[in-house]
Amino acid sequence: MGNLYGVIGSPIKHSMSPDIHNDAFKEMNLDGYYHAFHVEPNHLKDSVHALKVLGVKGFNVTIPHKVNIIPFLDELDETAKIVGAVNTVVNEEGRLIGHNTDGNGYIESLTNVLKKPLQDNRMLIIGAGGAAKGIYYTLAYQGCMDIDLCNRTVAKAEELIKQCPYENNSSARSIEMAELNLKNYDIIIQTTAVGMHPNITDTPLSLKNAKPSAIVSDIVYNPIKTTFLKEAEELGLTILEGVGMFVYQAVLAFELWTKQKPSAKRMSSIVYDKLG
Ligand code: ATR
Repeated sequence: MGNLYGVIGSPIKHSMSPDIHNDAFKEMNLDGYYHAFHVEPNHLKDSVHALKVLGVKGFNVTIPHKVNIIPFLDELDETAKIVGAVNTVVNEEGRLIGHNTDGNGYIESLTNVLKKPLQDNRMLIIGAGGAAKGIYYTLAYQGCMDIDLCNRTVAKAEELIKQCPYENNSSARSIEMAELNLKNYDIIIQTTAVGMHPNITDTPLSLKNAKPSAIVSDIVYNPIKTTFLKEAEELGLTILEGVGMFVYQAVLAFELWTKQKPSAKRMSSIVYDKLG
């Protein structure tokens, strides 16, 4: 009988994870099945225990459980510890090990559009929530020293910088100050939910001061091209759509579970077919 995998979250109905993972099992000729489980916060503990004792081999964790699941796991890997959040769990003979593939998934997607070595880029992260933290700390771990953060609530950006475990030259900025000084950055990374379906006309800031060689990236992938990315494109800037991060975090999770690497391109085309 095949192995069971899944994702827990709320809301979960529109998750594309089952589509891409079930296709990956087909691609790799593995007998696995991936199911989306709707789990409310008050059922998190019971659900995690159930998945464990029922022998589910691995599962993803999404909003709003990425941080709160930690006390119910047996162990965390290095990345999950640093970020303080888990998006992938591996069931190793009854022990649940928490991982985080979001940051490395993001970096893999970014690698496809880089114009110079990762560490040579000056970056601006917009946002200071869980997603920003994962990306920021993973980039800092990779030796990126020049990363500024801007956020609606500046104190939250200051706090993330203060707690960053790696050497950095980061500063916290207001959105307005970052907007005025956008020409300083080679890569602009949008990590907030601004512009996400159904509020698709919203953007976090204007890109008109960005330098022509800038890479503009948005981790929102529904819609595939946010208004922010559309503005970037109109200005002739290089864009990186959020589908990339979504797909690469899934590739890395699938690898943790099965030790096999599915095709990111094939996963992307499934997402584009459905949302594009
Ligand atoms: P996630 O885990 O997706 O990062 P989060 O931890 O709730 O979610 O963080 C949400 C981020 O989006 C924060 O940076 C938040 O800004 P504040 O810290 O000021 O709340 C940002 N955000 C959400 N809605 C926003 C809006 N309408 N305008 C600007 N920033 C917004």
